[in-house]
Amino acid sequence: MKPVFLVGFMGSGKSTVGKKLATALNLNFLDIDTVFEEKYHMSIQAFFEKYGEPLFRKFEHEILLLTCTGQNVLVSTGGGTPCFGNSMELMRQHGLTVYLSMPPAALASRLLNAKRVRPLIQGMSETELLAFITNKLTEREAFYLKAHLIADAINFDIQGLANKIREYPNFDAKS
Ligand code: ADP
Ligand code: S3P
Repeated sequence: MKPVFLVGFMGSGKSTVGKKLATALNLNFLDIDTVFEEKYHMSIQAFFEKYGEPLFRKFEHEILLLTCTGQNVLVSTGGGTPCFGNSMELMRQHGLTVYLSMPPAALASRLLNAKRVRPLIQGMSETELLAFITNKLTEREAFYLKAHLIADAINFDIQGLANKIREYPNFDAKS
């Protein structure tokens, strides 16, 4: 089976929901952020501080390229992964893309309570965070909305989405 790629904003649940969805579909689970941190032996936050975002994007893209040829895997991407270079197109060509969609206020509320530090929003107040998400999501939806499937990340229905993925027309699930 070709890879399934989960895309969406930080906090939409790509890692949390991705693991459960992978289990429901009997697929292996791979999180690009986790692979990155293992490969470079540091947190993404530390990498941003030491080397900056452009190098992060280059290496993130290299990891994505490796996942494109994977079989029987569900890949949870980083919030920015589809939004640089031809990454969204690559994912669309090599597998099935799923956008976990959530409105800015709900994302802000999750991110304010999240334990994991995310360098792009580190230290922001609630008001700053909401403004940042609103702007960034508008920009990024130009990429996210190209996904084959769009799922409601608030009222998330794992079995419903798993069925849609299995039944997606022309998705060569057995190859
Ligand atoms: P992403 O990988 O998209 O950045 P995460 O999976 O890390 O998102 O989730 C971000 C935060 O939201 C975490 O604190 C997580 O516990 C919480 N979360 C994720 N999915 C849900 C959900 N379906 N319902 C409630 N909280 C959730
Ligand atoms: C980023 C999202 C993060 C991580 C990095 C950059 C982004 O992943 O890749 O901090 O640009 O939105 P999550 O979406 O898993 O938080």
